[in-house]
Amino acid sequence: MTSKEIRRKYLEFFRERGHKIIPSAPIIPENDPTTLFVSSGMQPMVPYLLGQKHPLGMKLVNSQRSFRAEDALEVGDNRHTTFFEMLGNWSLGDYFKKEQITWIWEFLVDVIDLDPKKLYITVFIGDESIGVPRDNEAIGLWQKLFGDKGIEAREVDIGSEDTGYEKGMRGGRIFAYDVKKNWWSRAGIPSNMPVGEPGGPDSEIFYDFGTPHDTRWGRECHVNCDCGRFMEIGNNVFMQYQKVSPTTFEPLAKPNIDFGGGLERILAATIDSPDIFKTDLFEGVIKQLEELSGKKYEGEWQRPTRIIADHLRGSAHMIIDGVLPGNTDQGYILRRLLRRAVRYADVLGLKADTLNTLVPFVIAPFKGVYDRLFEGEESIRKTIHDEEDRFRITLSRGMKHFNELSDNNISGEDAFVLFTTYGFPVEVTEELAKEKGITVDMVAYRDAMKGHQTLSRSGAGEKFKGGLADHSEATVIYHTTHHLLLKALQMVLGKEVHQRGSNITAERLRIDFASPRKMTDDEKKKVEDIVNEQIGEHLPVMRTVMKKEDAESYGAEHEFNASYPEMVSVYSVGPKDATLENPKTKEAFSIEFCGGPHVANTEEIDMAGKFKIIKEEAVAAGIRRIKAILV
Ligand code: ALA
Repeated sequence: MTSKEIRRKYLEFFRERGHKIIPSAPIIPENDPTTLFVSSGMQPMVPYLLGQKHPLGMKLVNSQRSFRAEDALEVGDNRHTTFFEMLGNWSLGDYFKKEQITWIWEFLVDVIDLDPKKLYITVFIGDESIGVPRDNEAIGLWQKLFGDKGIEAREVDIGSEDTGYEKGMRGGRIFAYDVKKNWWSRAGIPSNMPVGEPGGPDSEIFYDFGTPHDTRWGRECHVNCDCGRFMEIGNNVFMQYQKVSPTTFEPLAKPNIDFGGGLERILAATIDSPDIFKTDLFEGVIKQLEELSGKKYEGEWQRPTRIIADHLRGSAHMIIDGVLPGNTDQGYILRRLLRRAVRYADVLGLKADTLNTLVPFVIAPFKGVYDRLFEGEESIRKTIHDEEDRFRITLSRGMKHFNELSDNNISGEDAFVLFTTYGFPVEVTEELAKEKGITVDMVAYRDAMKGHQTLSRSGAGEKFKGGLADHSEATVIYHTTHHLLLKALQMVLGKEVHQRGSNITAERLRIDFASPRKMTDDEKKKVEDIVNEQIGEHLPVMRTVMKKEDAESYGAEHEFNASYPEMVSVYSVGPKDATLENPKTKEAFSIEFCGGPHVANTEEIDMAGKFKIIKEEAVAAGIRRIKAILV
């Protein structure tokens, strides 16, 4: 069976039982600032689960495109993805437990022919502290259904997941777990739920792939074990409570059903393969990856192949919903997905700029289902291409540096340099280290960061008070551009121009400087030309720690009225042949007292765009302000 058949059969099955089919909402939530992504089918349904009338009635069904950024680092095993589709059906105060359990069983066993002997169930064990009893009703319903197929369904109490590894299966078919496993709300366990949030006990369905237990996870296997033998393929939430105070729950006027089942996993069960990447949803892109890399999807190549396939798929769906790579919110998640994909493309030995050519294979299984992917194919490819280009500039330098380090464990200082100079978020460094079987000294790293922050405060004085909005790549690019701009202003307007304030974000830079009059158009043009020329020169950027007197003798620009420690951190841009061993600070185009971070080379600015002044105005007597961008 293909993904299209399963999706269609599920929607059809519930339509025949009085449900209206609703389209998938976008994965970027509408009117819900509490979360970046729609991560389950129920999310867009919350107002209706709380009692608001849905225009299409009380029984609904859909396949919801969903995204879980928090699973990104788990991708690589047999069953985790960032993007997935959730098959969902809802009763908004209409039918309840009996119908739901019976119908979903019928769908799984009779419609898509899963072997009932391979199905296992979990239910809620009950919790006095919130006044919710053990779900004996669900246990009884499941036992009857198994019984009708001639399968004895013994119930076994597990309680906490941790004790599952001690207790094991004990011949059970239905297992009762605590709130951590069998309670569902958007916020998780009852104590994490905000007042007003709906939730309830749930009953999950697992498929047994029969693979041997891996004792790395614990002595005995149980259905919630992570060894990969059992995979959760669906969750029936009996959404019947609302949190009304920090410690109390009340039943909703009418109980709801919220069912969600991962299409990818249900599909894997129908082909009896514990690897969801072997389904038709991923088959095409994986085959193409094998062909391009010449590496079989097995053993050591499995993980990188899965990560690329997943991350491209997630990116494609995000892009058609209007996300672009950036440094905040969804844009930042997209950027990280694409950059991780680039890194793993390198692991597979793919040529640069290959990722975007995989897009047709990634979206092929959605033909006739989400046609917007095809209408947006070109823009998906371009977005991936551009982001890969941008990242490669930092990546190659950072990887080179990392490889020079990585025979030994990574010191805090090394991790720090990888971040400040090469733009490697520390988790990327950690991940790279893990792959090599070495560690990162996180304690020392945090210390270095602290020291760095202190240094930037003292070393750069007031400048960074409101200074950098964050340490994202785009902000860092603007930071270095800011240094070039100050120098250019001095060259055009006179040496006495000094900075009085700055504010730098991922979107633009702002500088306040002392100058008695408005700049002419000609002066602005000259400044722009100088900055762009330096950017185009692809000059190395160096950080040096030196004696304050030395920095001053080199003409390092410093802050009005700021006082500095004896040893200061200085950033210089250029000359072209500067190296870490011989930074030639004296010959630099620009030199400033500064704690960073900065780009490693002005080439990174070049990739971001051309420097342009968008505003020049007075902010106080004798103080002018320039806003500038890279376009
Ligand atoms: N909303 C439930 C889940 O995501 C079905 O598991």
